Amino acid sequence: MTLVFSILRFVHIIAGILWAGGALVLNFFIAPTMGATGDAGKQFAGHLMGKTRFTTFMMVTGLTTVVAGAILYGIDSSWFQSGWMKTGTGIGFGIGATAGIVAFIFGVMLGNTNRGLAALGAQIQGKPSAEQMSALQALVKRQAMAAQGNTICMLISIMFMASARFFG
Ligand code: HEM
Repeated sequence: MTLVFSILRFVHIIAGILWAGGALVLNFFIAPTMGATGDAGKQFAGHLMGKTRFTTFMMVTGLTTVVAGAILYGIDSSWFQSGWMKTGTGIGFGIGATAGIVAFIFGVMLGNTNRGLAALGAQIQGKPSAEQMSALQALVKRQAMAAQGNTICMLISIMFMASARFFG
């Protein structure tokens, strides 16, 4: 294992743990709590997304996981030439990698939707207009879909990353 490969793998695993952990805690615990606590939840969401580096943290750890992972896959498969891709291990890391990339795409969608919700929330004074209400409902629906997609793909990616090496 070359030094570059070892460093890439180290960076990939650390970033993957931080990204997956951040996403699952957000999707399973923080987002439902924000939704269930009315104005206090909106204030919390506004601060978390607007005043902390949480979204930057998620973007940087997600991108680092995907880019380092893609290079690792490239090296392992001799840049998509070798039979490694058809071995149990190669297929396992391939499924995990694909699920990880889709989780990242859902994560970007979730980030954009949260920003849209924060912006709309800031516009609404008192009772929302009919137009604002339907925009809000559409964003909340997209947020739920993106969060679900992100969670399911993240879990699939984690499970294959943890087991692919043993697929022979
Ligand atoms: C939540 C997302 C991810 C996590 C937590 C994660 C974690 C891990 C872990 C712990 C390993 C070491 C497994 C072992 O040595 O048995 C690993 C290896 C690997 N990962 Fe990921 N990974 C994630 C996403 C990705 C993505 C998106 C890609 C590609 C685009 C990828 C490509 C790879 C490859 C090719 C290896 C094998 C490296 C080697 O040959 O040692 N991973 N990953």
